[in-house]
Amino acid sequence: MKKIVFANWKMNPATLKEAKKLAASIHRKSKHAVVLCPPSVFLGLIDYPRLGAQDCFWQNRGPFTGQVSPSQLKSMKVKYCIVGHSEKRALGETDEMINAKVKALLEEKIIPVLCVGFGTKVEQDDLEVVDVLKAQLDIDLTGVDASKLIVAYEPVWAISSGDPLATKKVENPEHAEKIAIFIRSKYKVGKVIYGGSVNPYNAKGFLEQTNIDGLLTGGASLIPSYFNTIINL
Ligand code: PGA
Repeated sequence: MKKIVFANWKMNPATLKEAKKLAASIHRKSKHAVVLCPPSVFLGLIDYPRLGAQDCFWQNRGPFTGQVSPSQLKSMKVKYCIVGHSEKRALGETDEMINAKVKALLEEKIIPVLCVGFGTKVEQDDLEVVDVLKAQLDIDLTGVDASKLIVAYEPVWAISSGDPLATKKVENPEHAEKIAIFIRSKYKVGKVIYGGSVNPYNAKGFLEQTNIDGLLTGGASLIPSYFNTIINL
């Protein structure tokens, strides 16, 4: 079944030349739909059928130095925008800020890819995870039509920043499926995807789950052979 796979390049690569080369190496035709999310400075300079941003501000204009607005993203043909990534939450982004960003994106008809997740270790308890997700989603989705959103479940411990194949820690797909069912049934969100150390070897396990509509890949999306494998599984 056709799913959606996001490439979250994070703050990579180092130059525009490398970014163009990376985008050119990703298949245009693949089994799953693909969205490239380069750093915002490269948006508009990268040629790929579907583009996403990694973050945005919650206002469309004004004295907000360094911020990028949803309307600016829209004018760069951006169709999706990640919000609430754990790496942004770790820098002080609150659920109230995330809620404001989700609303601002929907106003511009950009689909928010809202990241939620929790946990510093593999042995986390399902109920504890659900409690934390509820605390995040209750605020993130206040006053929002959740059916227009994609929610990405990313256990914080599973998110890596090194070689995706070197990472031993991997969420088990059955647990991710259970969490996806919880998110879908309680919040009526449009799609639920999974992220955290996805690589060419474990991706299929997640893609095969009925309630997981796709993947958010970080490290593996920077390696064309890994990413091209994932998007064709
Ligand atoms: P990772 O990143 O695939 O490198 O774990 C996923 C993410 O942070 O979205």
